[in-house]
Amino acid sequence: MDTRIVVIDREKLQTADELLMEAARILRGGGLVAFPTETVYGLGANGLDDAAARKIYAAKGRPSDNPLILHISAAEELAPLVREVPEAARKLMEAFWPGPLTMIFEKSGIVPYGTTGGLDTVAVRMPSDPVAGRMIALAGVPVAAPSANLSGRPSPTTAQHVIEDMSGRIEMILDGGPVGIGVESTIVDVTGPVPMLLRPGAVTMEMLRDTVGEVAVDPAVAGPVAADVKPRAPGMKYRHYAPKAELVLVEAASPAGENPGSGDRPAGTAAVLPCGVSAAGTAVSAAVIDTINRLTGERMAEGRRVGILCTDETKDRYPRGIVRSVGLRASQETVAHSLFAVLREFDDLGVDYIYSESFARDHLGQAIMNRLTKAAGYHIIYCEN
Ligand code: TXA
Ligand code: MG
Repeated sequence: MDTRIVVIDREKLQTADELLMEAARILRGGGLVAFPTETVYGLGANGLDDAAARKIYAAKGRPSDNPLILHISAAEELAPLVREVPEAARKLMEAFWPGPLTMIFEKSGIVPYGTTGGLDTVAVRMPSDPVAGRMIALAGVPVAAPSANLSGRPSPTTAQHVIEDMSGRIEMILDGGPVGIGVESTIVDVTGPVPMLLRPGAVTMEMLRDTVGEVAVDPAVAGPVAADVKPRAPGMKYRHYAPKAELVLVEAASPAGENPGSGDRPAGTAAVLPCGVSAAGTAVSAAVIDTINRLTGERMAEGRRVGILCTDETKDRYPRGIVRSVGLRASQETVAHSLFAVLREFDDLGVDYIYSESFARDHLGQAIMNRLTKAAGYHIIYCEN
């Protein structure tokens, strides 16, 4: 299949309407279009067309029991897709739509199981990216879209990433330039009595609680690693955002007995992930830097290629290896923005190992650490301060 790649000029969005109408025609006709959103690029299909939604799984190489998110262009488009809109969802929509928040509802009869992976619930989000919004409005149907990467690769944050993964597999790619946020949307299940966070994102836990009060956290958000277990815990099937290299996180051990930030976790898992790095996330201990330098030296002595994932504040403290900064530690937004691009760059460079600094887990840091620990298959090395 020939994939048409079209550049959308954000400065003159009206002049792009012809191109967006063509994308809309492809979607209505059952085809696939990759498009920018404020979080990551999506791979869209008509979400009410079972066969079209199922094509997404083939293009991504993704298991078809993994449900898709329905993207809408106006809040009124929600009602026909769901059985009810609970009070908490209303408040969250009011506060965060359009934007990087996905909510899980009981689905209505018009949403096909091809979109929901066989579930009776459906994920819905209203993106704030005007390119996405206009394309969805012109399509006139909710657009089912996962991230536009091949299954197992980091989510695409530039059109170039999408081209690498999807060329020849889909009808069209809309190139709207680099995305703004860089990590996927926050997912909140609003079907129960208390909203539950399923995936952290740019709408942070702090923001959710400010809006609706109590919010529960799915234990899978923190990950299945026990505090006294140093090496990788679960199998490859949990390695969702996986770079090709073996990624290992290096984190300062928190003082004995202290596990700040564990209040959301169910009993028995409270000691899961020590908060390690200082709460503000502004400092990395010398022990972390020394450990990364030692491990890098060891691997390089074995003839391996090593990447180091660090920040602007520390990048000059790693004399060996391929050193890449993901941004300013003091600015979580910059780290989220560059994280997936840097993981992809390490893939392209063919490194065998990536040693990564760790980050604070508050605010946007919860999403950053969620993606990083998953990419690492929960392989974290704790070092003494
Ligand atoms: O920011 C985003 O959310 C991006 C852009 C394109 O909107 N999309 C995205 O889609 O990240 P995807 O497919 O990569 O991730 C969607 C996640 C998956 O983990 C899926 O399991 C979960 O949402 N999900 C979708 N429907 C669900 C449902 N009914 N119940 C529970 N989880 C659901
Ligand atoms: Mg994805």
